[in-house]
Amino acid sequence: MPKEELEQTLVLIKPDALKNSLTGYILSQLSEFHTGLRFAGAKIVHVSRMLADEHYAEHRGKVFFPGLIEFIMGKLQYPDEPQKRRVIALVYQGPGAVQKIRDLVGPTNPHDAREKKPGSIRSLGTIVPIKDDNGKEVGSRMENLIHASANTADAEREIKLWFQPADIPPFMHAYPVEASGDHYYFREGRLSTSFEPGSICLIAPGNLAWTSDMEVLRALAAGKPAAYSLGAVAAKYLINVSKEQD
Ligand code: RTP
Ligand code: MG
Repeated sequence: MPKEELEQTLVLIKPDALKNSLTGYILSQLSEFHTGLRFAGAKIVHVSRMLADEHYAEHRGKVFFPGLIEFIMGKLQYPDEPQKRRVIALVYQGPGAVQKIRDLVGPTNPHDAREKKPGSIRSLGTIVPIKDDNGKEVGSRMENLIHASANTADAEREIKLWFQPADIPPFMHAYPVEASGDHYYFREGRLSTSFEPGSICLIAPGNLAWTSDMEVLRALAAGKPAAYSLGAVAAKYLINVSKEQD
């Protein structure tokens, strides 16, 4: 298959879109009829803090980061109903996938979207004031309904963060995969190659994994520096596994 046919992008339908029943509208805007792109992956995800933190790693340390994490985890929309905290994660594939979807999504700020790109998906978003304990407005945050990868390098990082190879049909794999020869376990932020009580098996021998993840695991298990963090590998294997509530 020509390489451009394999271009992929990650879309997240965020908790504010789910709460406002905009899922069907967004899916229809992004349909193959409109974009020429095909579904390569789809899942409903209860977003853990580890996954949120890795997804928005580029924004760590910024003032809006803590609110952004709470938002993508669905805690702001559903403070008392953890069962409703979800996002829909999608992979779209086809020539120009990243840019085609960014164009339909529109500017980050919904007010900008309304002004500069009326009709884009984010023009249906909103800005929510942030108030202090006395009710005084101290800032604002965006509820912009949807995430879409900004470029092909981000798309690769994000797709590998949210999806295991086996979540995507084999003929649609855009990045190298390999079968693991070892067990890898995760417990309290630590990697192990042997089982300890309370640990979760991330990968067993024979399981298919992204080759770049396997390189990270082999390096970390040998105590060497790795291209990215253990969290970036582990988060997807823990999706919908635990009832993380924090
Ligand atoms: P996204 O990653 O969610 O698709 O959005 P984006 O590429 O259009 O924008 P990005 O700069 O990556 O920002 C990620 C999310 O952080 C929030 N944000 N708040 N208060 C602010 O100045 C600010 N800047 C960004 C937004 O919720 C944005 O979606
Ligand atoms: Mg972004």
